[in-house]
Amino acid sequence: MKGVVLAGGLGSRLYPLTKVTNKHLLPVYNEPMIYYPIRILVNAGIEEILIVTGGNNAGDFLRLLENGKEFGLKHINYTYQQGEGGIAAALSLAEHFADRDKIVVVLGDNIIETNIREAADEFRKQKEGARILLKEVTDPQRFGVPVFEGETIIRVEEKPAKPASNYAVIGIYMYDYRVFEFIRSLQPSERGELEITDVNNFYIREGKMQWDILNGWWSDAGTFESLQSAGNMVAKTGANKI
Ligand code: G1P
Repeated sequence: MKGVVLAGGLGSRLYPLTKVTNKHLLPVYNEPMIYYPIRILVNAGIEEILIVTGGNNAGDFLRLLENGKEFGLKHINYTYQQGEGGIAAALSLAEHFADRDKIVVVLGDNIIETNIREAADEFRKQKEGARILLKEVTDPQRFGVPVFEGETIIRVEEKPAKPASNYAVIGIYMYDYRVFEFIRSLQPSERGELEITDVNNFYIREGKMQWDILNGWWSDAGTFESLQSAGNMVAKTGANKI
């Protein structure tokens, strides 16, 4: 199983912090943001990792991360996203790297207290399909929100005005090789992006989506409020506990 960290985008919600650098290089307490998603993958036993980034500061990732020695890695792979297009568009650049293997995708601004070892091990055993992680939140309208029928997710709604549950689909996704086929058939959403939620809905329609609840806290860090609260939580309890 391989890992992909999506670290592109304009970070427009954090302007002017992102005027001269990439969002994922900003500090979250005492480390650059991108350290946290890389550790999520490493702590799940994943050693082959691809960073997808773009924009004017792509070279800084190479200078910061080098070959990944800091994380116990021998090598890190990098690819460059030209322009914008959404999470699913960024992920499509990982097709060659994935080479039909299963992948774990982490959004570069997602930070967790604990680890995803159990879910990753379940996905290693899963013959095909996808797996998502959920977390109960007080503001589900900010996220992808699962709609349940009993224990089954029948649909994910992206940033719904009236959320059908109190859960967020967090930015850690596990996919088999068919993800790239699904991405090719996507149409841009109202915000002009290829949505990861639409990819998840493909798997759900085929009855091939499994889910787990994440232990410990979770935060994204893409707005001033969430960036600050992620930093506070890291300072208070630490992140990526094994
Ligand atoms: C993205 C996804 C959303 C998911 C969230 C997790 O939102 O579209 O479904 O819940 O990441 O961080 P965005 O950060 O692009 O608004």
